[in-house]
This record gives sequence, structure tokens and C-alpha cells, in this order.
Amino acid sequence: MIETGLKDKVAIVTGAASGIGQATARRFAQEGCQVVSWDVKDGQAEGGGLFQKVDVTSAASVSAAVDEVVARFGAVHVLVNNAGILRDGQLLKYKEGALTGMMSDEQFDSVISVNLKGVFVCTRAVAPRMIQAGGGVILNASSVVGLYGNFGQTNYVATKAGVIGMTRVWARELGKYKIRVNAVAPGFIATEMVKGMPEKVLNSMVDHTPLGRVGQPEDIANAYLWLASDAASFVSGTVISVDGGVVTGT
Ligand code: NAI
Repeated sequence: MIETGLKDKVAIVTGAASGIGQATARRFAQEGCQVVSWDVKDGQAEGGGLFQKVDVTSAASVSAAVDEVVARFGAVHVLVNNAGILRDGQLLKYKEGALTGMMSDEQFDSVISVNLKGVFVCTRAVAPRMIQAGGGVILNASSVVGLYGNFGQTNYVATKAGVIGMTRVWARELGKYKIRVNAVAPGFIATEMVKGMPEKVLNSMVDHTPLGRVGQPEDIANAYLWLASDAASFVSGTVISVDGGVVTGT
């Protein structure tokens, strides 16, 4: 049995109304954390925690929510920057030699705003509270596609690679305050985000996964839990792939 050191710690999880975020909030609550769940959608509190309607792209919304968390629980020890969206499309699309479509500015900007700027906005608001508390852990949602690229995901891949860059910068800048910063790169996980994909694409992903299955939200929640725990107390500035081995052959 690993001593996680997470009991009574205060953890904020963004994008916690569904999928990986919800599973992560539940897992941290099971471990005895005071969990604060943020989402733009309606959601629910886990354990004895709190749900707050927060848009991670809005600095004002994030800052007001952090103030409320500190007033209620006294500190913030863990931040899981999980909120994310997809707006897939090819850079350029041709049919019979004619240009028929391209990724729009709106498609690009909306994904950058949530997946990249949202991580920046939340971390900038929460890190001072961790410094006050004498340390903390920041965990960022990257993706296997942030490491290897993916067809039709210029915008999304840019954010997931960018998140790895910010993880490495913050590990350097915040280490002296005993704040550890890491990223997780999930493979294909069975959530709403991937349920909309054509069955052919999903089956092909499973075929390329040595462990022969899609991941479950709990697989990622457990990785976040370990990274947030004392068992990972010398782990910072890294990216952990949780993908069933899919990196080979994709
Ligand atoms: P999901 O779509 O089930 O959940 C994402 C949540 O983020 C939703 O509840 C949504 O309302 C929330 N959200 C969106 N915009 C927001 C905003 N501006 N402010 C606050 N919350 C917002 O997605 P899923 O699959 O659980 O993904 C979670 C994270 O993991 C994302 O960052 C995603 O990119 C990443 N990921 C997911 C993979 C997968 O296969 N499902 C693979 C690799 C990475």
C-alpha cells in the first residue's frame, strides 16, 4: 500500500463534469482529498467537495473561483489542468484538384483558447496559492498526439505539444517553491470526446494498441493520482504516456 499523502489536500480538477476529469475528481475524493470540480457545463461535487461553474479561458472567472476555494478550504495543493476540446479538420482539403476547405481561424483559436491558454490562466491563478501553502503539484493534460502528431488535428496537436512545453518551463520556474509540474499523455480513452469518432478509426486505434483495448477514464485518473502523491515526490518536468503502448506503429 502506497502512502499517497493526499488525505485532506485540496485538489482542483478542471473539465470535471465528464470523462477523464470526472473520473479523476472521483479518484482523488476516494483518496480523502477535498476535491473542487470545475466545468463550463453543469456538474456535481465529489465526496464532500465543491462544484464550481468555471470557464478556464476566463481569467476573471478562474480568479474568483480560486478565491472562493481558498476562503472555504484554506489552500490549494493540486491542480489538474484537464479541460479540453476538439475542433478537428484538415489544414487544407482538396477534391479533384480543387481546394474545397481549410481549417478556419475560429477552429484554430477556440482550441488554443481552452487547451493551451486555459492551462496558462488556471496555473497562473493557482500557483501563488501553492507557494503560500509551501508547495504543490500541477498536472497537465497532453495527449499521445502531442508527441506524434495526428491527421486532421493541427490545432489540437499544437495545444497538446504546447502543454508539454509549458510543463517543462514551470517545472524549472516553480521547483524552488516545491511545486512539481508534470504532464500525462493519454492514448485513446473511452469518453464523449472519442465516442463521436467513426467506428473504423476507433477499431484501427485498438489494432495499433499492444494492450488491445481502448483506455478507460480511470486509467488516466490513476496516473494523475500517482503523480500527485508523495510516491512521485522526485518526479517533475516529465510526460507520462498512458496509452496501452499505442505509440509504436501509429
Ligand atoms: P470530455 O469532453 O469528456 O471532457 C472535457 C470536459 O472539459 C467537458 O466536461 C467540458 O465541458 C470541459 N470544458 C470544455 N471547455 C471548457 C472550459 N472552457 N472551461 C472549463 N471546462 C471546459 O473529454 P475527455 O476525453 O475526458 O478529455 C479530458 C482531457 O484529456 C482533454 O484535455 C483531452 O484533450 C485529453 N485527452 C483525451 C483523450 C481521449 O482519448 N479521451 C486522449 C488524450 C488526451
